[in-house]
Amino acid sequence: MARSKGDHRTGQLVRSISGQDEMFEKSYEEVLETRRSQPVECLGRSFENDKKRREFFLEKLRRKLKDPEFRKIEGFPIGADEDILALSDPPYYTACPNPFLAEFVKCHGRPYDPEQAYHREPFAVDVSEGKTDTLYKAHGYHTKVPHRAIVPSILHYTKPGDIVLDGFCGSGMTGVAAQWCGTAPTAFRRELEQRWFKEGRAAPEWGARHAVLGDLSPAATFIAANYNIPFDVHAFAKAARKLLDEVEEEIGWMYETFHTDGKTRGRINYTVWSEVFSCPECVGQVVFLHEALDKNTQKTRSVFPCPHCSAELTKGNLERSFETLVDAASGEAWKRIRFQAVLVDYSVGKTRFQKEPDSNDLSTLDRIDNLKLPSSIPTNAFPIDEMYHGSRLAPKGFRQVHQMFLPRAAQSLAAMWRRADGWEDQRLRNMLLFFVEQAVWTMSLLNRFRPTGYSQVNQFLSGVFYLPSQHAEVSLAYVLSGKLERLVSAFSSRTLPK
Ligand SMILES: C[S@@+](CC[C@H](N)C(=O)[O-])C[C@H]1O[C@@H](n2cnc3c(N)ncnc32)[C@H](O)[C@@H]1O
Repeated sequence: MARSKGDHRTGQLVRSISGQDEMFEKSYEEVLETRRSQPVECLGRSFENDKKRREFFLEKLRRKLKDPEFRKIEGFPIGADEDILALSDPPYYTACPNPFLAEFVKCHGRPYDPEQAYHREPFAVDVSEGKTDTLYKAHGYHTKVPHRAIVPSILHYTKPGDIVLDGFCGSGMTGVAAQWCGTAPTAFRRELEQRWFKEGRAAPEWGARHAVLGDLSPAATFIAANYNIPFDVHAFAKAARKLLDEVEEEIGWMYETFHTDGKTRGRINYTVWSEVFSCPECVGQVVFLHEALDKNTQKTRSVFPCPHCSAELTKGNLERSFETLVDAASGEAWKRIRFQAVLVDYSVGKTRFQKEPDSNDLSTLDRIDNLKLPSSIPTNAFPIDEMYHGSRLAPKGFRQVHQMFLPRAAQSLAAMWRRADGWEDQRLRNMLLFFVEQAVWTMSLLNRFRPTGYSQVNQFLSGVFYLPSQHAEVSLAYVLSGKLERLVSAFSSRTLPK
């Protein structure tokens, strides 16, 4: 098999698919439960159970990581051995170049046979697949391709059991498609077969293909691995729910608020923060959202009057205003643009309300400000000079990762991450991290407040580090409860083909 650039780089994922027929008869959980305690075959070796398989290959990977030549491979991730081992599930997924790749190809591939010349007509068809599929949406990725759009090409160019390589796999949709060739629902199969028949093509050969996936980005391979390696969906749902409940127990007080009657307790969904500027004419303080938001249309006006001197203000002529805080990581003075909490969106039971933050809300925020920065929040410096948007971050005072999170967001993310990262079962641990990691961007200061938006989740501008003047600081439960339901539904539907 030809090796692409990607094979030599950081993350590699090797995924073997077998036993697809079994999936049609039993529920996925039943299959996995049985498999967990059963002897397994992997790369020509037999193991008492899957745990033993993992232990065996982890030990091999541990030894390989000590080999200086191995680490010299271009693009090798910058990471400690223990971190690479903790993420990896070898031989299927290694968070570094996969040393088991050759063995995998030897085991599952077929040597090229010149007697059986390979020939296919070019597959030139228009592919149109929506991006609403729950599995497609289980994890975002830039330039992500729907697996349903890849399936026809795999069916055309390969046979069941062949190896498909994607050395630039991103979120791993090629692997999902390779599996789908064996597990696609009947409706999808019928529709494709009828289309191909009308186009005069031979009937597709359904059946899973093996997939070899690689990517320069360790984050991509982590996402791809979680998309492709089977897991116990039911156990995952239970574990995630447990973690959410535990975190609620630990940091629930941070999201408690009082209804406007002053006594009924509510749960905060999100708090809106506005950047505070100063007027170029009178130097008076201008809370952007207070002045720019048109309460009737819920849109921000491009021109609005200064509340002090009535001067005509625009986003362009406002002066930046700074505040000096104590940096939670270094304990030193930290100067950054000024923000003020202006709106609290909360629920009492199932009813939603909004109010201005009251003195109780402000004292809760003060209390959180005084907490220590959790150790799991990264304090790495941004490579400002190498970033396209670095020039926009640094002048506003943002130079390190932790500075992108308000104290409450940092505390709750860390509480959840710590628990997910500490989960004992390796496969569920990675799936829990896959779940929690999806709250990171939206819980940062990059998340914009969209007054007319249905939800305030994932309102950051993708692909750039744009710090908005109006930020929706969403609560962990607001972000993750719905996400959990959608993940469970996505992965259950994938694994229970009809
Ligand atoms: C267009 S994205 C692929 C998205 C993918 N089709 C999906 O559905 O998620 C291209 C990927 O190539 C990866 N990449 C870029 N240069 C690479 C290299 N030299 N070796 C391996 N991967 C690379 C990027 O990290 C990115 O994930």
